[in-house]
Amino acid sequence: MSLDQNLDKILIVDFGSQFTQLIARRIRELGIFSEIVSHKKIRVKDINQSIKGIILSGGPLNVYQISKYTFNKKILDLNIPILGICFGHQILSKLNGGRVKQSKHREFGLANIYRKNNSLLTNNFFTNKKFKRVWMSHADQVSKLPKNFKVIASSDNSKFAIIENKIRKFYGVQFHPEVTHTKNGKKIISNFIFLICKIKKNWSPKDQKIKLINNIKKQVGSSKVICALSGGVDSSVVAQLLNKAIGKKLYCIFVNTGLLRKNEENQVINTFKKKLKINLIYVNAEKEFLKKLNNVSDPEKKRKIIGNYFIKIFESYAKKIKNVKFLAQGTLYPDLIESKSVTGSESSKIKSHHNVGGLPKKMKLKLIEPLKFLFKDEVRKLGLELNLSKSIISRHPFPGPGLAIRIPGLITKEKIQILKDADYYFIKALKDHGFYHKIWQAYAALLPVKTVGVMGDNRTYEYICLLRAITSEDGMTADFYDFKKSFLQTISNKIVNSIRGINRVVYDITSKPPSTIELE
Ligand code: XMP
Repeated sequence: MSLDQNLDKILIVDFGSQFTQLIARRIRELGIFSEIVSHKKIRVKDINQSIKGIILSGGPLNVYQISKYTFNKKILDLNIPILGICFGHQILSKLNGGRVKQSKHREFGLANIYRKNNSLLTNNFFTNKKFKRVWMSHADQVSKLPKNFKVIASSDNSKFAIIENKIRKFYGVQFHPEVTHTKNGKKIISNFIFLICKIKKNWSPKDQKIKLINNIKKQVGSSKVICALSGGVDSSVVAQLLNKAIGKKLYCIFVNTGLLRKNEENQVINTFKKKLKINLIYVNAEKEFLKKLNNVSDPEKKRKIIGNYFIKIFESYAKKIKNVKFLAQGTLYPDLIESKSVTGSESSKIKSHHNVGGLPKKMKLKLIEPLKFLFKDEVRKLGLELNLSKSIISRHPFPGPGLAIRIPGLITKEKIQILKDADYYFIKALKDHGFYHKIWQAYAALLPVKTVGVMGDNRTYEYICLLRAITSEDGMTADFYDFKKSFLQTISNKIVNSIRGINRVVYDITSKPPSTIELE
């Protein structure tokens, strides 16, 4: 377990539900710290005074597959309130003498649940109605009520949709209160944490800012810290946090690979060096990267060359700053959970990621990862608290290998220039038309094919520009954004008319999967 935040908290025991992180986020949105721990890692001796409530998540298993999950029954005797959700509801029921069986009618999607009895858990949940729409996703269901439990609500298919043992403060819900499809679902979570666990608010970006700054000061002392700055949200927030904590003892290294978005290097220098007065070392390595990528068209080779050379540059500059003891990284809470995930199987490698966060093991520096307990939306709020501008905080993600993976095939200086312009016009148009913040990520790419066109009375033979704009929650799956024809027409005209080298624009309408977000 990684419970090193000394805050009162709600502990979420993860049984592999795809919604576990959502439960944690909902609780934090309510101003309470929450941590996730895998069912395989939780030990009774780790459950200390700071844990004011436990939530058992959903999961893909069946409660009778006892060898596939772990749950120490002694946890039930610690006198801590417990809320079981879906699979968690079924385990809680079984462990308390109830029975679980496969339902005749599996319930996936919306269902009505009907109020049977009052409970603190459903205080103000049903509002004035007898029933509520909730989101179900289960094949099994509790078929016999556990000992000393009472039914609070039932659906047509699940007699025991909400149950409670008021004395022991055990609650079970068959549906998912954490998803937005469940009307008023947040009320169930807030009743559990405030009315039943009686925990006091302790979590906000503002509190975090002060705590994180103090922790960094303590950890660093009089040493020096280096940080790879990319201009993206996470590394920007880390840099500014460290800047506030240790000022000139922080050295940020920003490498211009020549594969950045148009004017990116100027914006980074302006913001971080000029405005925020951060110690910034600007390394212009455009020529070197272009040389290294000469004649390389294989996507994986490109990624490796860029990633490796980036580390080399970073190391050589870091060495010049003497007595560095720490490396600051923008690891986020989902990275931490996923790296320890028990439910994620070894998946096949699709792409070798290059991330300025993953640097560089060889140097044997101690790590500072101030964001490792935060979700992305919390990082954004923290960034605003740190006076970073909204334009930095709400930027679309940008991959480490940059434009290299948006130019399939060979990379040339000319192609990079054309692409920078096309991407600039596209992103500007998204901002001008109010689309930018509705879209999770958007970019232009330059396809390695030339096609024939006609401009004026002349034949042209130029590249195809591909536009991609997607909506997504986390980049793992994605859908293309459904623009109106008129917008696509406007941007297509703008690009073709303004940029020499492009005479055709296409819009990518594939989702992920089967495609990925980037082209390479
Ligand atoms: P894919 O193309 O795998 O991209 O669907 C998912 C998300 O990851 C970003 N991406 C990267 N980010 N280093 C990064 O920091 C990388 O090497 C990298 N490759 C892809 C991509 O932009 C999208 O947001």
